[in-house]
Amino acid sequence: MTTPTKTHLEVQKRYGEFAHSEGACCAPHNTLYPLAALQDLPADIASFTAGSGDPVTPARLQPGETVLDLGSGGGLDCFLAARQVGAGGHVIGVDMTREMLERARKNAERIGLENIEFREGFLESLPVEDNHVDVVISNCVINLSPDKPQVLREIFRVLKPGGRLSVSDIVTNRPVPEEHRKDTEDWCGCTSGALPSSEYAEELRKAGFVDIKLEPDLDVARQAIDQGQIQAPEEMPGEALLQQVLKWETCDKNIFLPHLISARKSA
Ligand SMILES: C[S@@+](CC[C@H](N)C(=O)[O-])C[C@H]1O[C@@H](n2cnc3c(N)ncnc32)[C@H](O)[C@@H]1O
Repeated sequence: MTTPTKTHLEVQKRYGEFAHSEGACCAPHNTLYPLAALQDLPADIASFTAGSGDPVTPARLQPGETVLDLGSGGGLDCFLAARQVGAGGHVIGVDMTREMLERARKNAERIGLENIEFREGFLESLPVEDNHVDVVISNCVINLSPDKPQVLREIFRVLKPGGRLSVSDIVTNRPVPEEHRKDTEDWCGCTSGALPSSEYAEELRKAGFVDIKLEPDLDVARQAIDQGQIQAPEEMPGEALLQQVLKWETCDKNIFLPHLISARKSA
């Protein structure tokens, strides 16, 4: 078991408080997921998300698969995954924050999903056997870890040969300056802990993954611009701002953008 660092404790405190709140921390649920996926879920469950995108739809889950959700929070992605893998499949949510686990377990019971369990644990030492899962999903969590290379090694360990990764996460264009990395508020708010895109890809490669892809999540970025979460230095129409943001290699400031990340463990 990982000994929690100061960062873990700060993140736990932030999301322990969030677990008692009503809802969306970054983007509203109905802008992250296809509406059809949320249908039939009680409104308070469908709207409780602290995610940066939708890692479930691109995972193309198949009936019977075993899925692991890292940093499962209130459980929304687990609930969506559990319906897709069906009674013959299994979903495991892992989170280190007890309040989140309690909320997720209660909600799973309310919905009547039996192919799902929530385990308390750290991403850096996952409470899951080697070669056990077909798909790892995660939504706006890996950026919060103080040891991302270790998290990626753990994902590789628990995936079956041929298993895949489908992650939504905040990624940046250049290393975050040390001073900013010490900003607890921004770390817990999923920005200052973000990895540069090239470093994320390199760490995935070092952990053993192949077919690595990191792509900006343009739908979520457009919504963030519309909601004023991404701001231009001067007045700029949304689409022009997005085009500007996407030329981020040339920008000398950090830009933080939701990305969809996929990779595979060789068969
Ligand atoms: C931003 S929230 C996202 C929750 C959920 N994935 C969602 O989309 O709503 C981050 C979650 O990850 C958990 N978390 C963060 N770092 C973790 C770590 N190192 N180990 C285990 N859980 C972690 C937090 O407790 C919190 O529930």
